Amino acid sequence: MVGIDQVLEKLSTVIDPDLKKDIVSMGMIKDLELNDGNLKFTLELTTPACPFNVEIEDDVRKAIAEFSDLKNFDMNVTAKVMEGRSLEDDVGMATVKNIIGVASGKGGVGKSTVSLNLALALSQTGAKVGLLDADIYGPSIPLMLGMKDGFMEVEENKLQPAESNGLKVVSFGFFAEQSHQAAIYRGPIISGILKQFLVDTNWSDLDYLIVDLPPGTGDIPLTLAQTIPITGILVVTTPQDVASNVAVKAIGMFEKLNVPILGVVENMSHFICSNCDEKHYIFGDGGAKKISEDFKMPFLGEIPLNSGIMSGSDLGKPIMISSPDSPSAVAFRTSAKNIAAQCSILAAKLQEETESESSSEESTSETSSA
Ligand SMILES: Nc1ncnc2c1ncn2[C@@H]1O[C@H](COP(=O)(O)OP(=O)(O)O)[C@@H](O)[C@H]1O
Ligand SMILES: [Mg+2]
Repeated sequence: MVGIDQVLEKLSTVIDPDLKKDIVSMGMIKDLELNDGNLKFTLELTTPACPFNVEIEDDVRKAIAEFSDLKNFDMNVTAKVMEGRSLEDDVGMATVKNIIGVASGKGGVGKSTVSLNLALALSQTGAKVGLLDADIYGPSIPLMLGMKDGFMEVEENKLQPAESNGLKVVSFGFFAEQSHQAAIYRGPIISGILKQFLVDTNWSDLDYLIVDLPPGTGDIPLTLAQTIPITGILVVTTPQDVASNVAVKAIGMFEKLNVPILGVVENMSHFICSNCDEKHYIFGDGGAKKISEDFKMPFLGEIPLNSGIMSGSDLGKPIMISSPDSPSAVAFRTSAKNIAAQCSILAAKLQEETESESSSEESTSETSSA
């Protein structure tokens, strides 16, 4: 009769394709019980948005099927998002596991549209998601969510995010009076507002906080990078960006600040013809792929140019909510999964570094006590 050791040995042949490690050493097998030929355990993925959830589950089932003498096998699949940023020096955001800044070289590339729909796509997988509209000069998220009259309360000196479609949302646009004055605010005031939005908000437990940044390399992106440890930056480009090189500048700034770059998503990348369902790269093909190759960062997805995406934003009904099965929504979902996978990869790296640091500390203290 098969024993627990054999089961674990077999399970450790299953590799998570993103983390490139086996599921046993990654601690993904929980609550394993083997009684009288009845096996059960929980498979805990590193994110509910795992792009390889089906493959991993299939591989586990195939591996277990090799034990012909098992009477019964029961697997519960769950997910627990890993911490993709160092919470050690955290200043009040320790309940937020991952912070993703969404940046671009110039305005109008669809950064807010992409931030919002990616946040919704992540949330629809079951993750707890917040969206911080950090474009203080031009907040657009409230309108895109149909929350023109939305507001945020202050309780016990903490800002309470507004809620919409399962997202916790913070935006300067909710301060209607002030927001049209934002254009005259100077850098230090703007930085102060962003810091408060980050640190003085009651985010509660979040798996992912998406931060929609204003374009370029001004005070706000700089403040985000310098105030708190973040998981990384997602760069949004359009096919035209390659020629103008603007995305490259923004990437350069974050690299100088040692902020990890998660990868690049190309927006308005192609047009899907409603007659033939084919993708037409009307603005040229492969631009974002080239940027991703040049900067050695992952290419995380391409979003079509689609009137439904635009009207969804204009009408306050994002496409992830109004047409969750449309090709555009599928494109957002695919990108969201790739982004979540990048967060897990960075989290696993961080965990490894912390473990190796603490084991080297242990060995130093052993030597010094000896
Ligand atoms: N994939 C897309 N297809 C069609 N229109 C889009 C797409 N992405 C963005 N838009 C539209 O482009 C305009 C600019 O988008 P926005 O998200 O506000 O850009 P940014 O935040 O980069 O300034 C908006 O009108 C938006 O609805
Ligand atoms: Mg915007």
